[in-house]
Amino acid sequence: MSRLIVVSNRVAPTQEGRPAAGGLAIGVLDALKETGGVWFGWSGEIVGEPQAPSIDTQGKVTYATVGLTRRDYDQYYRGFSNATLWPAFHYRTDLSRYDRQEYAGYLRVNATLAKQLKAMLQPDDIIWVHDYHLLPFARALRDIGVHNPIGFFLHIPFPVPEMLRTVPPHEELVKAMCSYDVLGFQTQADRQSFVDYIERGGFGTASDDGMIHAFGRVLKVGAYPIGIYPDAIAKAAQQFGDRKQVGTLREAMRGRRLIMSVDRLDYSKGLVERFQAFERLLLSAPHWHGRVSLVQVAPPTRSDVQTYQRIRQTLEGEAGRINGRFAQLDWTPIQYLNRKYERNILMALFRLSQVGYVTPLRDGMNLVAKEYVAAQDPEDPGVLVLSQFAGAAEQLPGALVVNPFDLTQMAEALERALSMPLEDRKARHADMMARLRANDLSTWRDAFLADLRNVTTAASVTRKA
Ligand code: ADP
Ligand code: G6P
Repeated sequence: MSRLIVVSNRVAPTQEGRPAAGGLAIGVLDALKETGGVWFGWSGEIVGEPQAPSIDTQGKVTYATVGLTRRDYDQYYRGFSNATLWPAFHYRTDLSRYDRQEYAGYLRVNATLAKQLKAMLQPDDIIWVHDYHLLPFARALRDIGVHNPIGFFLHIPFPVPEMLRTVPPHEELVKAMCSYDVLGFQTQADRQSFVDYIERGGFGTASDDGMIHAFGRVLKVGAYPIGIYPDAIAKAAQQFGDRKQVGTLREAMRGRRLIMSVDRLDYSKGLVERFQAFERLLLSAPHWHGRVSLVQVAPPTRSDVQTYQRIRQTLEGEAGRINGRFAQLDWTPIQYLNRKYERNILMALFRLSQVGYVTPLRDGMNLVAKEYVAAQDPEDPGVLVLSQFAGAAEQLPGALVVNPFDLTQMAEALERALSMPLEDRKARHADMMARLRANDLSTWRDAFLADLRNVTTAASVTRKA
């Protein structure tokens, strides 16, 4: 079997022994631990000059990481990736800004990383690239003569063509994406947006077998919804229930209901609307005063991007305002915690709560929604309130699905979740667990890699014929 090389900007920091908050790091780490392979990407450090990768092997995974120079970090990571692509791909064109030099830096870093990776490659390696930082990575590898199979998975939404066109170099980016052999998206809707861009722009055509013919290339384009390992999470949630932090919250919540939210502190997660909908519940249903609390765990992320500084301030203001308005001497309606927790502890906290409140304005998949379901006690499960704009909504029909722009509807869903009868909760949970098991993390990985191997085998057979 050929060696698997995974490439992503964020590599799970190995020294801490646990990954950064973020769906990509969690998903890739779990998927790679079993197959083994190399994980290549940014070390998270700023360096004076680009250097050869540092290598660190743990178990079956070899981590090969490189630093970024300050200029590279500013232009490629903070700039084009997180101030142009991330907002535009999450439908926040109001927050997206374009700078030609940052885009040049983005292309330059992709080319530098490609060169650094090439030095490590063996002829039969297969390469799996992840996320929006690396849209042109295959193009950069092809330009320096790499012929290995290369697949790409986008963890975030792929926007509809009108939205994508707000990113000035959209055509160049999509053309570069067509250098991959397989392109994977989280949902059918994301896949369709890509196909629409290609077909409506007259760049190529899609065929019924999932292939796209565009810019002189043939590639497979599919939807591969990322999953989790639900039974491992259920077990951890149960086992970590006796930890001190979990006990503290349990004690504080005695006699009260708990609504739980966990996100990176990102404007795409709909945190302001979420707080305001909770406020609406308190306004419309005084019987909940003193009887329900919202715990929002939200560690800061990308704090040197201005839009993230603003959302943090806004949210602090909203939490303070709502608490000031409703709090009693022995009750704080919103507990807002800007910190990371060990993943297993989070799962135990999910199990303690009656409602999982996951309401992004736009999200590729949202693993937290899946984790929340998996962490529940099947005999007394909590209820998931989930945004229709998370990829996970396609797969979790047992959730109370809401429109996060409709605060009244969200408040009603909270009320319904808090008062849902046990039988209904159990039936919804069992249905969702079955779906999570049928489409777990290994299904995602294996389906993607099988397509990557098939497409490239077919191509080499055609070349030989
Ligand atoms: P995103 O990838 O946009 O951050 P996801 O919901 O898909 O959103 O993935 C987030 C992942 O990061 C989940 O696995 C979640 O458990 C983890 N995570 C989120 N917040 C925290 C936190 N405060 N502490 C530890 N892990 C977190
Ligand atoms: C999302 C993105 C990932 C990213 C993560 C954390 O999950 O899809 O690519 O790694 O957020 O963000 P950061 O900027 O800290 O890597």
